[in-house]
Amino acid sequence: MSLSTALNRANAVASFFSSVFFAVLAVVAVTGPILLHSASTPDVKLAMAKASVKMGRIGHYYDSRQPTTEMATLHFDLKADLSPLFNWNTKQLFVFLVAEYSTPSHVTNQVTLWDDIITSKEDAVLSYRRKKAEYMFSDISKKISGIEANLTLHWDVMPYVGVLIHDQSAPTKIQLPVLEAKKSGKN
Ligand SMILES: *[C@@H]1O[C@H](CO)[C@@H](O)[C@H](O)[C@H]1NC(C)=O
Repeated sequence: MSLSTALNRANAVASFFSSVFFAVLAVVAVTGPILLHSASTPDVKLAMAKASVKMGRIGHYYDSRQPTTEMATLHFDLKADLSPLFNWNTKQLFVFLVAEYSTPSHVTNQVTLWDDIITSKEDAVLSYRRKKAEYMFSDISKKISGIEANLTLHWDVMPYVGVLIHDQSAPTKIQLPVLEAKKSGKN
C-alpha cells in the first residue's frame, strides 16, 4: 500500500468519525429541549416573608453628596424542585428571583433580587425560609415604598450543546411596606 493510499484511508476514517461526532452532538442538541419539554414543570412555591424600606445611598455609601434613595430589603420563602430540568444535556441551571413592577414613568421594571448556579440534580431541590435577598430592591425614580410587584423565579437551562432554554414560575403578588419613619435624633 503506497503512502498516499494510506493517507487517503486515514483521511476517510477521520472524516467519518468527525461526521459521527457532529451527528451525535446534533442529536444531543435536539433531544435536550425535547426532554425538557416532556419533563414535568417544576413545582415552585414562592412568597415574600418580610420586607422593609429605608433610605440609603446606592454605591457611594460614605459620600454624603450622593442623593438618598428608597431601598427595600426583602426576605423570601422558596420551595422549588428543579430536578426535572436535569437531563444528559443539562450542564447547569442559572436560577434568579425577579421582582417586576410598573411605575408611572416606566411600564415594565425588573429587579433581580437573588441568584444561584445549580450544577447537579442533587442540588436542584431548593428550600429556603426567610432567606435574605442578595441584592437591594430600588428604583430609578428613587421611590419604591408601598409598591406592588410580582415575584417570579426564573431559570436558564444551560446545555452542553445546543440552545439555552429559559422559563419562569407563575408570579407571586407582593406589596412592599411603606417607608419607615426616621428615628428621632438620627440624621
Ligand atoms: C402581576 O402579574 C399579573 C398576572 O400576570 C398581572 O395581571 C399584574 O398586572 C402583575 N402586577 C404587577 C404589579 O406587575
